[in-house]
Amino acid sequence: MKQQLEKIEASAKEELSSCSEIKALEALRIKYLGKKGELTAILKQMGGLTAEERPVIGQLANKVRADIEEALAEKLSSLKANQQQAKIAAESIDITLPGKHCGLGKLHPLSIVENEVKDIFMGMGFDIADGPEVDYDYYVFEALNLPPDHPARDTQDTFYISDKVLLRTQTSSVQVHVMETQKPPIRIISPGRVYRSDAVDATHSPLFHQIEGLVVDKGIKMSDLKGTLEMLMKKLYGNDCKIRLRPHHFPFTEPSCEVDVMCFNCGGKGCSMCKGEGYIELLGAGMVHPKVLEGCGIDSTVYSGFAFGLGLERIVMRRYGISDMRLLYENDLRFLNQF
Ligand code: DAH
Repeated sequence: MKQQLEKIEASAKEELSSCSEIKALEALRIKYLGKKGELTAILKQMGGLTAEERPVIGQLANKVRADIEEALAEKLSSLKANQQQAKIAAESIDITLPGKHCGLGKLHPLSIVENEVKDIFMGMGFDIADGPEVDYDYYVFEALNLPPDHPARDTQDTFYISDKVLLRTQTSSVQVHVMETQKPPIRIISPGRVYRSDAVDATHSPLFHQIEGLVVDKGIKMSDLKGTLEMLMKKLYGNDCKIRLRPHHFPFTEPSCEVDVMCFNCGGKGCSMCKGEGYIELLGAGMVHPKVLEGCGIDSTVYSGFAFGLGLERIVMRRYGISDMRLLYENDLRFLNQF
């Protein structure tokens, strides 16, 4: 019987050592330790032993049971550990693989400079005003002292929706919208798209951008206009930048002027970039015409104001040395990625 017990233990251990599945382990437990198992079968024969043999064999049988149980438990935990290991390996991610490149967008040069101009004016206490791109003739022309047969309308031909409704040719229309709804003091700029029926070339486009400015208050003078524009140009082009005002005519301002900025290429001496002038034309401006103020219900004997309108494309082209305006609208990433 002793030999049988030892044989059971040896064969149980051997089978266990080659077992590689948790399910098979349970079958082994039943085979050796179950009610109908090999060990139980031996114990059932204990009745035939002598009184001296019984405790010895009993002890041995208990030891064999304990040994097999221990071996089963060990095997179970080692199989579980292996299973866990395999699961981790299967689910692991190789963080050394190069990732998928996700291209980051960036602002268009027109937006970059527009934001810069907005920041500069907000720093001087201006608000940003918005206005419609499709507007009534009244706001774009008539209220700005450009009656139906005014010759200056010829220079701003546009796309008409109807006799009275058109695509705005200038952001100056926002001046009227603002003055109709706000009382002075008024201090706004209004950036936006404008339209003209111009043929496309290096310096013309049927769609471009302007930034309008308007200040109305008691005691506003031409010197306020000059100081404001000088500050803008110094912030945009550096402290050495100088501006020059030339007399001009606009129907909605009196007096009117054009504002030139010193050519950054030659510093005012004259070069091919400024066509020998030393200065480059940047914007139109002037003191708001009393007729325009009165038309918007503002008493021109109490209030005065200045206004200006600058072309955003010109500033952007100047800033980055872009010689062809069309590049700004073609959406060619090779161009746009440079900013
Ligand atoms: N609206 C004018 C244009 O498109 C520019 C301009 C000139 C705007 C003088 C103004 C101004 O506000 O006072 O050419």
